[in-house]
Amino acid sequence: MTMKRFFFSAFMLLITGWSVAATDEDGSRLWLRMETANTAAIVTGIKGTAMTELQTYWQGGPVMLKRQKGLAKDGYTIKSQGDKIVIAAANDAGLLYGAYHLLRLQQTGNSSSSLDISEKPFYDLRILNHWDNPNGTCERGFAGKSIFFNPNPEHMKMYARANASVGINGTVLNNVNAKPEALSSENLEKVKTIADQLRPYAIRVYLSINFASPIKIGGLKTADPLDAKVIGWWKDKVNEIYRLIPDFGGFLVKANSEGEPGPQDFGRTHADGANMLAGVLKPHNGIVMWRAFVYAPQSPDRANQAYLEFMPLDGQFADNVIIQIKNGPVDFQPREPYSPLFTAMQKTQMMVEFQLTQEYLGAANHLVYLAPLWQEFFSFVKPASLRAMAGVANIGDDTNWCGHHFAQANWYAFGRAVWNPSLTSEQIANEWLRQTFSNDERMLSSVKQIMLDSREAAVNYMMPLGIHHIFAGVHHYGPEPWYSPKGLRADWTPPYYHRADSIGMGFDRTVNGSANVMQYPYELCRLYNDINTCPETLLTWFHHVPWDHKMKSGRTFWDELCHKYDDGVHQARHFLAAWDAMQPYVDKQRFSEVQRKLRIQARDAEWWRDACLLYFQTFSHRPIPQDVEHPVHNLDEMMQFRIPITMYENPENGYNK
Ligand code: GCU
Repeated sequence: MTMKRFFFSAFMLLITGWSVAATDEDGSRLWLRMETANTAAIVTGIKGTAMTELQTYWQGGPVMLKRQKGLAKDGYTIKSQGDKIVIAAANDAGLLYGAYHLLRLQQTGNSSSSLDISEKPFYDLRILNHWDNPNGTCERGFAGKSIFFNPNPEHMKMYARANASVGINGTVLNNVNAKPEALSSENLEKVKTIADQLRPYAIRVYLSINFASPIKIGGLKTADPLDAKVIGWWKDKVNEIYRLIPDFGGFLVKANSEGEPGPQDFGRTHADGANMLAGVLKPHNGIVMWRAFVYAPQSPDRANQAYLEFMPLDGQFADNVIIQIKNGPVDFQPREPYSPLFTAMQKTQMMVEFQLTQEYLGAANHLVYLAPLWQEFFSFVKPASLRAMAGVANIGDDTNWCGHHFAQANWYAFGRAVWNPSLTSEQIANEWLRQTFSNDERMLSSVKQIMLDSREAAVNYMMPLGIHHIFAGVHHYGPEPWYSPKGLRADWTPPYYHRADSIGMGFDRTVNGSANVMQYPYELCRLYNDINTCPETLLTWFHHVPWDHKMKSGRTFWDELCHKYDDGVHQARHFLAAWDAMQPYVDKQRFSEVQRKLRIQARDAEWWRDACLLYFQTFSHRPIPQDVEHPVHNLDEMMQFRIPITMYENPENGYNK
């Protein structure tokens, strides 16, 4: 560079600040934004993906990769020895995870000359669930089409690297609402191709299956799990799978749930169905993840049902069956208590299912960082009482993978949390931000705070104080607490959940109501059962709360509700303002894409507040307190407003009237 050019660049940097340095980014590199090293690092020892990754991206001194007996499966150590760094692991996966750990240190500015790290995963099954359909759509997918539909090797490689970099080692490729064709020979060939692409990154593939497959694609008359021909059909199918994919992981099953077929159609139990499949998979070391997401229209309380169906079967499941339970008893709501099955079942292997795709949290428009929600769950359910964790993926073929740049954080955080559930939300956010945006402290603290506050803000502007499931019918994006078409199952309509009337609102789940509280351990049952001790965050989940009930703040319940909704709106606006101040530290493209989404979020927050308060006011007949911002919308108009999308799309604009 000539002297003149140098002074000119320095001058530009001075007047325009950081933005000169930050070139536009589209988010496609996720958190793996390492630059290719100018000269390949010296990496010796075990050849494989770990070595290739380090040779490509490691900018430091020599690294040796070695196998070492006695270390935990997938675990590793990283130690400085003289001028060398030694990564040791018992298997290739461990070396790979060690390599990514080292690269993470490089990216977060943590490289040190005296490393002494020892890591092992908390769970050995760390699994993503994709709800992808054979036609390329993703159920509740807000980031484009399925990445598996036309798998492009470069895309698959990036997907595999991203997963391996956080230790995810399994992926269920298709929707739990599984088409029988998932098991057709033609589809299995496609699955084999994907499995071959993911194997170098220590990721096994799994499939969701349709329980009626023996009838639908096998031509049998029944799918009764105790029928010899049916068992024979599954044996042959499983043998066919393992001939193609020797390390195939196993099956995920949604049975007798929301219209999907299952063993109960043949007079058998969930245990009969799960154990039959487990028996067939066992010789190949495969597993069955059997979902407990069940509910029927005739039950007086949907939240009671998984417990009622599964508790009698506790202890009856084979040792390669894991019961996969959603974190809450209803359905991935902004806030739910934990599903009581987790503390009730004592003789059954269980895994938790979290939803990364934001079906009920503003889809790919709202910034909602989910690690705090998972941490809340783990404050009730001991991580050690579970066998594994599954995350319903938020990934599609959008350029930035997840539709919203910050939704990538939920994919990242899931991997880190399943590796080590005791990492704090803050630690994970910090790591992710440093790798995905920058190590600049001026950006880190404010943006981290947005992330950490975002889940509670969403609860406030959508469903505070224990309110749940008051979403629009089909797409679950906006508020429709009034939605109740004639003839529709009551438990698919919001009034079933909020039960607003002239006395108050909320679902009475006390011993005098649906008795759901009794599914919890005694201490919690007592706490939740009493309106005066029940945490206010769950108040209308467990109680029908009178409008004038006195809250801890001294306000009436109605006034508190108004304040909570309004707090949420102010929080969402603050996120936008705080982000606006980040312009100097973020590249233009990502800055403006996130800004656009935050504007939608702030407008949607108003929509939620106004729709809910104006609607609930028709029952409470109380004024909105003076110190709360009064609705800027009109209820009738909001009741007419429709977003014409299906459950496979992200609404482009949110509320736009
Ligand atoms: C929710 C979701 C469905 C999904 C189901 C499940 O109800 O809206 O799209 O199929 O959960 O988890 O099985």
